[in-house]
Order: sequence, then C-alpha cells, then structure tokens
Amino acid sequence: MSVPVLTIDGPSGAGKGTVSRAVAKIKGWHYLDSGSIYRALAIAAAAAKTDLQDVAAVTEVAENLQLTFVCGDELTVILDGRDITPQLGLESTGHAASIIAALPAVRRVLLQKQQDFRKPPGLVADGRDMGTVVFPDAVCKVFLTASAAKRAERRYKQLIEKGIDANLCQITHEIEERDRRDQERKAAPLAMAEDAYYIDSSTLPVGDVIAEVIKLIS
Ligand code: DC
Repeated sequence: MSVPVLTIDGPSGAGKGTVSRAVAKIKGWHYLDSGSIYRALAIAAAAAKTDLQDVAAVTEVAENLQLTFVCGDELTVILDGRDITPQLGLESTGHAASIIAALPAVRRVLLQKQQDFRKPPGLVADGRDMGTVVFPDAVCKVFLTASAAKRAERRYKQLIEKGIDANLCQITHEIEERDRRDQERKAAPLAMAEDAYYIDSSTLPVGDVIAEVIKLIS
C-alpha cells in the first residue's frame, strides 16, 4: 500500500505552515515545506552569484542543491552544511523564490526531491502544487486560503512582534504581487485541485482549521 499523503496548498500567508506542522505532529507523520526548497534554491543561487534569468545556470544550482531539514518546533534548514533558517523567511528570499519557481526546468529538477519526502507512516506536504502535480494521488487534499488583506495583516503583526519595522500597505501590495506571479505562471500555477477541500481561514482561528483538517483526514 502506498504511503498516505495529505496535501495543503494555498497562497502565501494563509497559515499552511502552522496547520501542516501541527497536523504532522498530531498524526506522527513527516512534513514537507516545499516553499522552503524554492527559498533555499534562491539563497544558493544568490551565493553562487547566479543571474535568476539564466535558466541553465539556475537549473544547475537546483541539480546540486544539498539540503538537510531538521524538524523541531520550527523547521531548521541546512544548505551545504550552513544553517540558512534566518534567511529563509526574508521577503527578498520569497521574492527571488517566486521568480525561480516560474521556471519549468527548475520545477522538473525539484519534483523528485519533493517526492522523496514520502516515507512511512505518512506525509503532510505544504505548497502550491502538492495536490495538483507532486502528489496527485494524495489521500486527502486541502486548499487553504484567506483574503489578501487578512494575510497581510497577519504578516504585519508577525513582523511588529519580532520588532521589525513594517508597512501594512507595502506588505499588502507585495502579497498581491506574489499571488499574481504564482497564479499566472505557466508551470504548475497555484490552483486548487478538483478533489481538494476548500478552507477559508480569514475568519477562522488556527485551532479550528487544524481541527477541521484532522477531521477530514480521519
Ligand atoms: O510558501 P512560500 O512562501 O515559502 O513559497 C515561496 C515561493 O516558492 C512562492 O512564491 C512560490 C514558490 N512555491 C512554488 O512555486 N511551489 C511550491 N510547491 C511551493 C512554493
């Protein structure tokens, strides 16, 4: 019998990471944060001084990507022996990742790396194309979203709590820009799988979303 997979796709800031990690912990399953692979590739490409428009060069960096994921309360990501976790969450990293993610050759290289996370007893996979492309045979698929205004507000609060200066208008603009790029690209655009459950977390507390997903998978 194949290893069960739960996919949680949706736009950035919808709470996929928090919900996926919590569900993986409750079920005792592995966790794949596919966005962090694209983000790590953006960091590796910058370290190699690679032009993001040079498809062959970025693809080569993707082929040689040496990543280790350490799952604790937070995810730690090691690139070539160096802890890159602090750089992963930067807005500039997310921006570069979404440019790289539009390249079909890069997505082809990263496909197998993501599928390798499927190990017993199960996997929770979080991203944009988990249910549509990477794990189309997942036992349960969720599309988790929230309004751009709500996602921007959450991101703004997170930054302020960390003592980082932030501008709500600018964050809203960046989120809308990223949504547009992720939805309009030709290669595996952000889209809801036909057989996915739709959850709008705009007005739902995160605990309710987790409970709902656990109910679905059970
Ligand atoms: O989920 P995130 O914000 O960490 O993702 C960073 C970027 O990576 C996002 O803009 C789109 C891309 N991405 C993707 O194309 N496919 C995925 N499965 C996950 C992320």
